[in-house]
Amino acid sequence: MTPLEDPALLPEPRPGFPSVPVSPPAEARRERGMPSKWPTTRERAEAEMTVLRPHAEDQYADELEMLAKSDDRPRPPGWKLSPWAVTTYLLGDGDQITPKYIGPRRIVEVAVATLATDRALLLLGVPGTAKTWLSEHLAAAISGDSTLLVQGTAGTAEEAIRYGWNYARLLAEGPSRDALTPSPVMRAMAEGRLARVEELTRMPSDVQDALITVLSEKTLPIPELNEEVQAARGFNVIATANDRDRGVNELSSALRRRFNTVVLPVPASAEEEIDIVARRVAQLGRSLELPVAATGLDEIRRVVTIFRELRSGTTADGRTTVKSPSGTLSTAEAISVVTNGIALAAHFGDGVLRAGDVAAGIVGAVIQDPVSDRVVWHEYLETVVRERLDWRDFYRACRDVS
Ligand SMILES: Nc1ncnc2c1ncn2[C@@H]1O[C@H](COP(=O)(O)OP(=O)(O)O)[C@@H](O)[C@H]1O
Ligand SMILES: [Mg+2]
Repeated sequence: MTPLEDPALLPEPRPGFPSVPVSPPAEARRERGMPSKWPTTRERAEAEMTVLRPHAEDQYADELEMLAKSDDRPRPPGWKLSPWAVTTYLLGDGDQITPKYIGPRRIVEVAVATLATDRALLLLGVPGTAKTWLSEHLAAAISGDSTLLVQGTAGTAEEAIRYGWNYARLLAEGPSRDALTPSPVMRAMAEGRLARVEELTRMPSDVQDALITVLSEKTLPIPELNEEVQAARGFNVIATANDRDRGVNELSSALRRRFNTVVLPVPASAEEEIDIVARRVAQLGRSLELPVAATGLDEIRRVVTIFRELRSGTTADGRTTVKSPSGTLSTAEAISVVTNGIALAAHFGDGVLRAGDVAAGIVGAVIQDPVSDRVVWHEYLETVVRERLDWRDFYRACRDVS
């Protein structure tokens, strides 16, 4: 018998050892000298100068502070700003507060007002309608913290909504508050902040259901400790869900009743969409420190026009029907095509955004399915693009890349 097989040499099984597997909690990672997933606030402040994408509350700290100073309207308990000031932060004031979300004012007002009630907020819409973006900025303006985030996937476990355990401490000390690793939702409850749940309908339904008690009772029981965490005032949940996922894990009606749903629309007009793309591209260019390329508003207009025509299935003048490709050609894709184009123009071109710089990006975004989308694109190229006299440069550039 080898020592490993000798029952006398095996460690005693410990009582109360839970059998649910969880991923190594942050505490345990830190104890083992592994990098913690969540830097402290100070580390965050220090990193702010170098991080690729600062959190909204850091990036717009000046605007938030300015608003807080002049905000004399009543603030709901636990809120950093009044609902009025939150709305101004999101939509801009035409002066020092830049617009973050561009869209109907009423939508933002309904979303903000919902969060001041005991119902949670569900942002629903097709991909690229700024659901994630709006939820981050809402959390930043209301709680000053947009990081209490649960990403919904098919593999999201209940620990992401409730809590997990630091196994090292659990084994050493038994179940205790110190051995517990709170989920972002639990932390938001304890601190009276907003928790964000991304892609709610992608989570398995039993995990979604863990939210029901949280939202209806505003409490999270911890049976192992015979305790509970009660939500402090200011706590609420913003969830996002994708219209296209409908039917993947349909929200249970019990859960749906806890949410007010706000549907985010696709930009109403081409002008509005061009405005969104131009603003976001300028912001991204600054944070990526891309060399300044001339604004290229003409190219932005062209990208938006093409995406809108392919999305809607008809040309802007309404005369020609076109087929729609399989992928989503959302505002978000338009932003990324133009940003890539600017990088090309700045590093390899003459610094001016030209047709050739966006052509490859457009073709890549349109042709997701190599067979059927290629047919759709070629038809569009030959029947629509080719006919537009002032689009010759673009037509040639597209022929070169496809
Ligand atoms: N109406 C809008 N106002 C401001 N930005 C927008 C708007 N629509 C889309 N965007 C931009 O599109 C990008 C993608 O949005 P995102 O929030 O990731 O979409 P979703 O979560 O709905 O799929 C963001 O960078 C956002 O700035
Ligand atoms: Mg999203």
